[in-house]
Amino acid sequence: MLHKDVFEELMNEEELDKTVSDIAARINADYDGKELVIVGILKGSAIFVADLLRKITIEGVQLDFMQASSYGSGSVSSGNVRIVKDVSCNVKERNVLIVEDILDTGNTLSHIKEHLLSKGAASVRICTLFDKPGRRKKPITADYTGKVIDDLFVVGYGLDYSERYRNLPYVGVLKAEIYS
Ligand code: PRP
Repeated sequence: MLHKDVFEELMNEEELDKTVSDIAARINADYDGKELVIVGILKGSAIFVADLLRKITIEGVQLDFMQASSYGSGSVSSGNVRIVKDVSCNVKERNVLIVEDILDTGNTLSHIKEHLLSKGAASVRICTLFDKPGRRKKPITADYTGKVIDDLFVVGYGLDYSERYRNLPYVGVLKAEIYS
């Protein structure tokens, strides 16, 4: 099946690059002269965090990863978030910036944020490429947001549908007939 039959484009490569540059500029200004540990949440943020990191100019910025799984039914995340991979660096008394591809119910990020604070992080902020505020179940907001979207199924640039389409260099909206 051709890609154009599966989804419609939401953000092209140029728009993504500008969005990432704008977020990076804000982060560079906010953390100027400070230490920062960037924690990418696998797998969806892999492409975003790689592009973002290359635009970060803060001296001594570090990169780490976490992975969480929330086992529920289908594409809806449950509140039972489990940490599959923890950070490998020590975050105690350090500024942490979590980087996510999408903030949906907030179950994943609220659990991860609490986890990092419980490890003694000095501060924990959230950066997400996409935000679906209409789906929120936990009172959590992002400090840096690329684009606020409706309840759309977005794929590409790291985001998947059944592990597919992460490789697309742009972001598309999956047509409802594909997943319903
Ligand atoms: C996605 C996304 C977030 C989470 C957001 O991950 O990357 O981690 O869901 O949903 P929530 O706000 O409702 O918790 P997913 O579990 O699909 O794993 P992936 O990143 O490996 O694709």
